[in-house]
Amino acid sequence: MNIVIILLLAYLLGSIPSALWIGKIFYKTDIRKHGSGNLGATNTFRTLGVKAGLIVSILDILKGTAATLLPLIPFFSVTDIHPLILGVVAVVGHMYPIFANFKGGKAVATSGGVLLAYHWPIFILMLVSFFIVLKLSKMVSFTSMVLGIIGLVYTTLYNVFYKIDIPLLVVIILLTSFVLYRHRANIVRIKAGTEPKVKWL
Ligand code: G3P
Repeated sequence: MNIVIILLLAYLLGSIPSALWIGKIFYKTDIRKHGSGNLGATNTFRTLGVKAGLIVSILDILKGTAATLLPLIPFFSVTDIHPLILGVVAVVGHMYPIFANFKGGKAVATSGGVLLAYHWPIFILMLVSFFIVLKLSKMVSFTSMVLGIIGLVYTTLYNVFYKIDIPLLVVIILLTSFVLYRHRANIVRIKAGTEPKVKWL
């Protein structure tokens, strides 16, 4: 029973549509009707500005972190479930949120939160890589996809040279696939040369 509850909780945590709720409550704006229409941090920065964008980034990251750390709660500690499974369920919740008609974000920040909880060095690597790749490309979508590939390379090297962690490798492959799949429209725009670029970096 605990397993069902913990999985449900991870999904519900991931389902919290921070971009939608922050926009509606504090800015009286439905960000689905603006910019790319995506319920994510990038579209929040674009539509509502830096403060809202930062808050949504942090909340979306924390959803993944909290779900992955759920087994630390004594009530669930007897549950024999790998924390990364909970993280993946939270990311699924983020992409297909029950609180927003199952139309959510593109898996980037919440995946980062999962990695922060499970293996923080990869999160730091991702964060640093994010700013470097963004500085060069000026496109958040392109940067997000490259981050997935960087995570994959890092985890493979980690497994080969340091410690075997197959669940981490499998989950990185899964999360990277989610990110690439959810950026289909961005890929079309990048190819057409119409993807918006950031001006602040
Ligand atoms: O994290 C989502 C980002 O990579 C792209 O967002 O709004 O430009 O489609 P957006």
